[in-house]
Amino acid sequence: MIDIHTHILPACDDGADNLSTSITEIRKMINAGVTDIVLTPHFIRNVYNNHTDVIESKFNYLQNEVEKQKIPVTLYKGAEVYLDENIFEDIESENFNINNSDYILVETNLSGFPKNLLEILYKLVKNNYKPILAHPERYPDIIQNPTLAEDLIYRNVYFQINAGSLIGLYGKRVSKTAWKLLSRGHVHFLASDTHCNNDEYLLPLAYKVIKKNLGKDFAKLLCVINPDKLLKNKNIQLF
Ligand SMILES: [Fe+2]
Repeated sequence: MIDIHTHILPACDDGADNLSTSITEIRKMINAGVTDIVLTPHFIRNVYNNHTDVIESKFNYLQNEVEKQKIPVTLYKGAEVYLDENIFEDIESENFNINNSDYILVETNLSGFPKNLLEILYKLVKNNYKPILAHPERYPDIIQNPTLAEDLIYRNVYFQINAGSLIGLYGKRVSKTAWKLLSRGHVHFLASDTHCNNDEYLLPLAYKVIKKNLGKDFAKLLCVINPDKLLKNKNIQLF
């Protein structure tokens, strides 16, 4: 499995607080069958100022330790970029794209989409970015109106749901929305969004429940095939 959304880079956001926590989480993930991990620390202007140079130096620090301990895993750079009004300038001047591909992981306000969200997304798509919206099932705008999800996909936005959402980690409404999106085929990636907080690593469990309810091929598509295409910057079908 390939996990494309994690907060494992040490001491730069609300994820791993130090190098030893990062390594513990990576070992946990390998034992669960993960081979490749994308490191996606938050970039939230004035909250988590993880500019490209910060990500680069933290990444090298972690990568060195992984090599030193001979841990069999491949790490990739990325970020989880918080979309606000002025974010486009930051995205253009930094390099937040996952593994230097066209794909970029984005999030926005969990209490309500900003008014100009469609404009921001359009600007990204128009400039050849491929935005992946993290955990769409957690946004009230989509919970209340799941057809909005289809509308966003028509606008070339990819969706990544969280493993925890399927098992009720964020409550019943989020879980229901995640399953609804899945059953309609409106999901492109499944990832953990792990924050290294000692909880169980949920990707294998979510993989299992998708396999049981929607089939092995679909589970593999979301956890292996599409993430692999992303890392190779190949095109992924929206529908
Ligand atoms: Fe996240």
